[in-house]
Amino acid sequence: MADRTVKAFVCGHPIAHSRSPKIHGYWLRQYGIAGSYDAIDVSPQKFESFLGELKESGFAGGNVTIPHKEAAFRLVGRRDNAAEEIGAVNTLWFEDGLLCGTNTDAHGFAANLDDYAPGWAKAGTAVVLGAGGASRAVIHALKQSGIRDIRVVNRTVERAVELADHFGKAVSAHPFAAVDELLADAGLLVNTTALGMHGNAEIPVDPSRLPDHAIVTDIVYVPLETPLLAATRARGLKTIDGLGMLLHQAVPGFERWFGVRPTVTPELRGLIVSDL
Ligand code: ATR
Repeated sequence: MADRTVKAFVCGHPIAHSRSPKIHGYWLRQYGIAGSYDAIDVSPQKFESFLGELKESGFAGGNVTIPHKEAAFRLVGRRDNAAEEIGAVNTLWFEDGLLCGTNTDAHGFAANLDDYAPGWAKAGTAVVLGAGGASRAVIHALKQSGIRDIRVVNRTVERAVELADHFGKAVSAHPFAAVDELLADAGLLVNTTALGMHGNAEIPVDPSRLPDHAIVTDIVYVPLETPLLAATRARGLKTIDGLGMLLHQAVPGFERWFGVRPTVTPELRGLIVSDL
């Protein structure tokens, strides 16, 4: 009898620290699915041939992480709108014989806010710190959710300008020197930079500048409470950590490969927190 086990993977370089196998492994057990999800270390030199051999290796699809997300974007046979706008692919599957790609980070970002601050998209105005790959996913999510005033603040202002050009008139570009002024009427503040991660400098933002109704979120989740979240929570604002984004970005891929839309449960969150 043929092996009916559905196989999926996450590939990156390095890959040992990926939390995805733990997330998908939890769901496979939870739903009693005969499937596997394995971490595979693939060097940049080998990435294209790895993709070329996916089908004959029996994979239904998988995730792609650093440093392959842009290469995956170029190499897939079909991409959806999220991938197009973000310029990077993190989830692969086969359809009509083609290798297809999407980017689920924007979904993860929005679903995390939906969980902890329903109605968040009425914020109207958002300030986004950072203009790298993560920022692109956040901006896509904000635009899709109907936010029409997205202010991107970046150390290298040229990168913020590139994003404003790419995403259109909802997005404006600003240097860090302007941040205090931009915060005064911000409904949402998002940090997409690595600042505030263990060992990194704190974020140059003064929480007292934010209005009382502002929601603050960080895509960094190590530590769970970043200096930005600690300072804004102490000021009485609603804060949301970045772990839910990681958990929710895994949902669409699992559903495509294994046929069940999984739930992000407190138990799953606890499992990943115990590992941070
Ligand atoms: P990612 O894919 O995680 O977004 P990235 O593309 O390397 O990573 O982007 C990192 C972001 O963090 C950028 O906005 C970067 O600012 P620059 O474009 O000016 O480099 C920001 N960043 C990283 N270190 C920083 C620091 N010490 N001070 C301010 N911003 C920093």
